Amino acid sequence: MKSLRFHFYLLILYASIIIPTKCFGNICLQKDHVALFIFGDSLVDVGTNNYIDTLTDNRANIPPYGETFFKYPTGRASNGRLIPDFLAEYANLELIPPYLHPGYHRYVDGANFASGGAGTLDETRQGLVVALNTQLKYFKKLDTLLKQRLGEKEAKKLLSIAVYLTSVGSNDYLFRFTSNSSVYSPKEYVNLVIGNLTTVIEEIYKKGGRKHVFLNLHPLGCLPFVKAIKPENANPCVEEVTSITKLHNKALPKALKKLKSELRGLKYSIADFYTFLGERIVNPSKYGFKEGKISCCGTGPYNGIYSCGGKRAVGPKYELCRNISDYVFFDAPHPSEKVYQQFTEQIWSGTPNVIQPHSLKELFDH
Ligand SMILES: *[C@@H]1O[C@H](CO)[C@@H](O)[C@H](O)[C@H]1NC(C)=O
Ligand SMILES: *[C@@H]1O[C@H](CO)[C@@H](O)[C@H](O)[C@H]1NC(C)=O
Ligand SMILES: *[C@@H]1O[C@H](CO)[C@@H](O)[C@H](O)[C@H]1NC(C)=O
Repeated sequence: MKSLRFHFYLLILYASIIIPTKCFGNICLQKDHVALFIFGDSLVDVGTNNYIDTLTDNRANIPPYGETFFKYPTGRASNGRLIPDFLAEYANLELIPPYLHPGYHRYVDGANFASGGAGTLDETRQGLVVALNTQLKYFKKLDTLLKQRLGEKEAKKLLSIAVYLTSVGSNDYLFRFTSNSSVYSPKEYVNLVIGNLTTVIEEIYKKGGRKHVFLNLHPLGCLPFVKAIKPENANPCVEEVTSITKLHNKALPKALKKLKSELRGLKYSIADFYTFLGERIVNPSKYGFKEGKISCCGTGPYNGIYSCGGKRAVGPKYELCRNISDYVFFDAPHPSEKVYQQFTEQIWSGTPNVIQPHSLKELFDH
């Protein structure tokens, strides 16, 4: 017992010699502390919409959301953890709460600005979500705060070695599809989405942000949510949505390549969520699932009507599957925790056909 304690003290002594720390008031940071900033939509939103004025349709704060891991609904649109939660774990950070959470002040670990339903365009679910431009505004506020707390130089350093994770675009296309009133051709619309995303990356760059990870769009035309809107055209997936998704996924790497040539030191990876999720939809049993097309929680065709939890505009009726581990989709538009876990493991370690060119581990290490 005594020797155990002795070794423990020795360990602390070693750690404090090997890992230099720097303190600012009551905040102490290890040298090369890497923060994580998160932008985008429900795939990475850990509860932002709990703190804004919106409709229950834009929230996941009702049972059975969160039941597998947290045992209560946290605002995450799934049964458990999302990509940023797994990433924080692998990077040895604490779970990063929403930027808007009133009790959150450990900004040196990063912040999560993502909002379920948000897109790159202000028009996408306007007034009901924190759109990407507003997320950027919050990021700039945080930059000012960090400068006050840590000083100009340390704040800039923190932002320049931080990792930026962005999942955005899906809602712009889903909004276009469901509102069915776009004056833009698919190609024009993709240009707007990519153009607005580009502007946000440039603004983050100006504040020091260099190391980005972008999710490409997952197969939107195959979401139970989309298939339930047009079941007559949903076999295997809704082609008009699939085609615009593919256009976006082609335009994204082109735009990023161009940006990299203009912004010195910009580093990014694209995580191919399209292929990753597509494989599990088509061939669930190969990856440890039993059902790839029907969601666990919802009603109607493919359980694709967005009624999970019974408190949304579409009404109280919903079915809940018995074993969520068997399902690729938790609710009509969102994957299950197991999908996110498998995906984050692979982008962390760097499975070559899932993320290129840098693994997340590499981005955190360098
Ligand atoms: C969109 O509008 C067209 C023509 O007005 C209509 O035929 C089509 O069913 C609508 N689609 C959806 C998803 O509402
Ligand atoms: C961003 O989107 C808006 C429409 O919401 C559009 O008017 C504007 O031109 C876009 N900006 C870029 C740089 O593409
Ligand atoms: C739920 O499904 C998973 C994966 O198919 C399986 O490993 C597990 O045993 C199942 N649990 C129950 C209670 O059936």
